Amino acid sequence: MASHRCCYVRARHCNPTGDSNVRAKIEFAKTAARKLPQTKGHSAKIMSHQSATNRTPDQLKLKIQQRQAKIGIVGMGYVGLPLALLFSDQKFAVTGFDIDRKKVDTLNQGGSYIYRIGADEIKSAQGHGFSATSDYSRMVDMDAMIICVPTPLNQYHEPDLSFITDTAHAIAPHLQSGQLIILESTTYPGTTEEVMVPILEKENKNNLKTARGSSNGQNEVFVAFSPEREDPGNTTVARQDIPKVVGGVNPTASELAGALYGSIFRRTVPVSSPATAEMTKLLENIYRCVNIALVNELKLLCLRMGIDIWEVIDAASTKPFGFHPFYPGPGLGGHCIPVDPFYLSWKAKEWDFRTRFIELAGEINTNMPYHVLSSVIAALNGQKKSLNGARVLVLGVAYKKDIDDLRESPALTVIELLQKEGAEVSYHDPYFPFIGKGRKYDLQMKRVELNQLGHYDCIVIVTDHSDYDYPKIVSEAQLVVDTRNATKGISNVKIVRC
Ligand SMILES: NC(=O)c1ccc[n+]([C@@H]2O[C@H](COP(=O)([O-])OP(=O)(O)OC[C@H]3O[C@@H](n4cnc5c(N)ncnc54)[C@H](O)[C@@H]3O)[C@@H](O)[C@H]2O)c1
Repeated sequence: MASHRCCYVRARHCNPTGDSNVRAKIEFAKTAARKLPQTKGHSAKIMSHQSATNRTPDQLKLKIQQRQAKIGIVGMGYVGLPLALLFSDQKFAVTGFDIDRKKVDTLNQGGSYIYRIGADEIKSAQGHGFSATSDYSRMVDMDAMIICVPTPLNQYHEPDLSFITDTAHAIAPHLQSGQLIILESTTYPGTTEEVMVPILEKENKNNLKTARGSSNGQNEVFVAFSPEREDPGNTTVARQDIPKVVGGVNPTASELAGALYGSIFRRTVPVSSPATAEMTKLLENIYRCVNIALVNELKLLCLRMGIDIWEVIDAASTKPFGFHPFYPGPGLGGHCIPVDPFYLSWKAKEWDFRTRFIELAGEINTNMPYHVLSSVIAALNGQKKSLNGARVLVLGVAYKKDIDDLRESPALTVIELLQKEGAEVSYHDPYFPFIGKGRKYDLQMKRVELNQLGHYDCIVIVTDHSDYDYPKIVSEAQLVVDTRNATKGISNVKIVRC
């Protein structure tokens, strides 16, 4: 099997400009813009040369409709960079802000560091005015700033809002009247208004306040929260087809944020407040986390009962209503599902409330890598071998199939657990030639080539990348422990499904 074959699998955004619906929407926006009353200081011509420091909500809306609004995006990561490209596809001039100089330099050289984003897309964005910077003073020229910085948990499993507060401290001194500030980072309800807004108001130099109620927009900034709903690696839904939930601090902020996102997403969903929008994102992720825990627990029971959970899920999925399939696995991974629910658990304590579903789901999901460990031990035992000293190959280390994201991946825990028991662990993943230091692990491992599979006492399939040739792997292996049902349809005594 060609170990790098999946280099040819690329999940690209489709080009919205090539879509007739979006084109129609742009035409509508242009027509609407032409129909706006041409009052003094409000003509399209003046708008195009207008300083970003002098804008009313109507002027900002017009700039958005005419694709003349300058958009700053803070955090050029998995969320911020694709978002920048979506705006750029729609001819907005976008500036990406990031504290990581390496990312800034790569982008300004027309390169990319995210696997599914090609350098050609960055170069094309540059053609529409895209550039990256670490210099926050450039924010004065922006009409809207969208913040997409990380929201991890700290060592005590509590929300770490330092990236959001650092960003707020950095942008506050450059705030200008009439600017629109949108937070996208996933966080607990209240963050926008209780954490970000006070910093912006206290530390700006122009005595600006956040627009509340039915304000007139004088000496004010507009603030909203809008959660990111990207599903990395999912090519079934185009990014612009994912409805965008928006909650402004006041109706004008909601309207402006809705207008901005309406230029790249087909549908925006206004909600009554930033806290509602923050909670919406958490509900979505908690729903996933709890349902995954449920199938993980049922899988453990099915294994004891000799029932194939995958067959059960497939059968249940034929029900045309009231059932949505979730799949078991070796544990949760990624920046969202293992992390976000605990933002709410933490916040709930302030209200003297325990979120028991979240805690229970966390307990079950966290235990899954240990279940993989016991399954490997039992499988080797079946061959009269001990894990101590066994050569084990872990296949797939990304947190889910076909993506280049290692964050919180259960594979890292599985590798560490296997090593602790004395196994000689190797790994292969088409997306990662090397595993270095992460937030929790410092594995310093180099990918092995996919040859001599018979050399390993056990191959553990942790991430079911599409490009693996599973029948070949099974036929060459001595023993396969499959945590993802990747070997579905292959019948061989060497396979242990766990
Ligand atoms: N990755 C996803 O699939 C996904 C999906 C939905 C929501 N989210 C949420 O979106 C947010 C961002 O996630 P991500 O995956 O893009 O993270 P990421 O780590 O890929 O990117 C964050 C970027 O922010 C930069 N950054 C950090 N502090 C900064 C600062 N003060 N100023 C400027 N730049 C700064 C980092 O250098 C990094 O490039 C998180 O809250 C996450 O929970 C992520």
